[in-house]
Amino acid sequence: MIRACNIYKSFREQQVLEDICVEFRSGKTNLIIGKSGSGKTVLMKILVGLHDPDRGSILFDDRDFIAMKPNEKNLLRQEIGMLFQGGALFDSMTVEQNVMFPLAMFSNMSWEERLDRVNFCLQRVNLENANKLMPSELSGGMVKRVAIARAIANNPKYLFCDEPNSGLDPKTADVIDHLIVEITEEYNITTVVNTHDMNSVLQMGEHIVYIHEGKVNWRGDKETILHDGTPELDDFIFSTALTKRIKKHKR
Ligand SMILES: Nc1ncnc2c1ncn2[C@@H]1O[C@H](COP(=O)(O)OP(=O)(O)OP(=O)(O)O)[C@@H](O)[C@H]1O
Ligand SMILES: [Mg+2]
Repeated sequence: MIRACNIYKSFREQQVLEDICVEFRSGKTNLIIGKSGSGKTVLMKILVGLHDPDRGSILFDDRDFIAMKPNEKNLLRQEIGMLFQGGALFDSMTVEQNVMFPLAMFSNMSWEERLDRVNFCLQRVNLENANKLMPSELSGGMVKRVAIARAIANNPKYLFCDEPNSGLDPKTADVIDHLIVEITEEYNITTVVNTHDMNSVLQMGEHIVYIHEGKVNWRGDKETILHDGTPELDDFIFSTALTKRIKKHKR
């Protein structure tokens, strides 16, 4: 479980996050949703230690992340898998080298053990036999799957995915969503996903936090989101043609 409380963050004069309190459970895919610019990526970067908050506390299973010394933070980071917005792979490395990268950085495995683990992870995302391909030879959906394989290579306890299916067609996006939920349940990972994709929200939104202008505006799940939102949340979810139709249908 991850618990963050009273998180504040400003860049120069701009207050980006204000008094954020969130709780993410293990074995669950927890969603952070919100408009572009609402602060989702900044919050995720604070949670993984890429930004320091101005104030606030972050607990990873009762371990105080903010109070940790740099070497303790580095140890905890080894328990974290991260899928960055844009899903960036290392362009000059093969699929196999990409997935092996965190193992080479953080594990004491022999090369054979690493290769076994890479093959296992690639198989888990249905990309066996893609080892020797370069990122330029992959489709968008394959890139995301390689990024997921790399993020789970180290057996993370915590998995952070920033817009994991952006830029994909709805069907491929669905495959990625399902994969994340399956892996989360299978390995009891505490997973946090940033998204503004309503398909993903309605599909995998068991625990949803809606961020509006840097503040938590609503919490709930996919069952309640269409019925008892705030005006700001309704404005967000009923902004696409599809959700407008749902709203019309509800009336
Ligand atoms: N390193 C930075 N320096 C200054 N301002 C930043 C920095 N990173 C983010 N911001 C600002 O913080 C605000 C929130 O940005 P953030 O990237 O968290 O939005 P987001 O919710 O992830 O949006 P999107 O859905 O488009 O990814 C934006 O106004 C952005 O300009
Ligand atoms: Mg973002």
